[in-house]
Amino acid sequence: MNGFEFIETTLTGNTAVIELNRPRQLNSLNRKMVSEIITAMETFDREEDVRAIVLTGKGRSFSAGADIDEMMGDDSISLELLNQFADWDRFSLIKKPIIGAVKGFVLGGGFELALCCDILIAASGTEFSFPEASLGVMPGAGGTQRLTKLVGRTKALEWLWTGERISAETALKHGVINKIVVPELLMDETMKFANRLATQPPLSLRLIKDSVNKAVDYPLYEGMQYERKNFYLLFASQDQKEGMKAFVEKRKPNYTGK
Ligand code: CAA
Repeated sequence: MNGFEFIETTLTGNTAVIELNRPRQLNSLNRKMVSEIITAMETFDREEDVRAIVLTGKGRSFSAGADIDEMMGDDSISLELLNQFADWDRFSLIKKPIIGAVKGFVLGGGFELALCCDILIAASGTEFSFPEASLGVMPGAGGTQRLTKLVGRTKALEWLWTGERISAETALKHGVINKIVVPELLMDETMKFANRLATQPPLSLRLIKDSVNKAVDYPLYEGMQYERKNFYLLFASQDQKEGMKAFVEKRKPNYTGK
């Protein structure tokens, strides 16, 4: 995939990598960049060969948030007319696993982007924060919603009100990230994890993600009914037949994603 100004994309085996590529500005996110990220993600989401998507940033930081230079002249009506955050809604519709590999600063909109990932692997020393309140604003791309659903109201308010820097260890303790690794191994460990997911049957991963996402929003009973339908649906797949046949025949399954 080419033609992007602010990101780079690569495909290694069945794992696609999207790299934020504005390292001199610590990958601060301008509008075009966000649009490019989601466009690349949607394209990979549709490509049959891609089974996992890795999101990371070039340089010393994942992302220092929204591009303040671009944002500082905005006014309410132009933001409403522009539908400023519409692109961000599209992240919720990505069906394949998204693994974020983060390091350095993960701030503001950069933290919101990280929270759009399904799995987060952080280099030791990574610092997370929502500094928006100190700029006289607040998160607008899902930060108050996704963080609260993840860590609960009490911690969310503390972190969002104070803008304090959250260490990778604290983020791990509160379930914001999955794993901390030494910086030199960030990409190796992330690719290893992504490649492991890439060997799993894609439709199972897809419907598990769909069901887990519903668990966040649905009451238990409705969520269980939803889960059940997805379970039944998987019995229409060739991979269900292959997985169970391989188990009985004591061999490795060969999943096709169909
Ligand atoms: N927007 C625009 N430019 C940014 C930026 C941002 N969010 N963050 C960093 N930069 C630029 C700096 O201006 C600097 O550019 P120059 O070299 O041209 O001066 C370059 O990136 C490197 O940054 P620093 O020299 O400041 O590096 P540092 O290591 O001393 O400090 C930092 C790093 C603590 C992250 C600091 O840059 C900083 O505080 N950045 C702003 C963080 C922030 O407030 N983010 C939230 C934005 S609001 C938001 O995201 C709202 C939303 O939800 C939509």
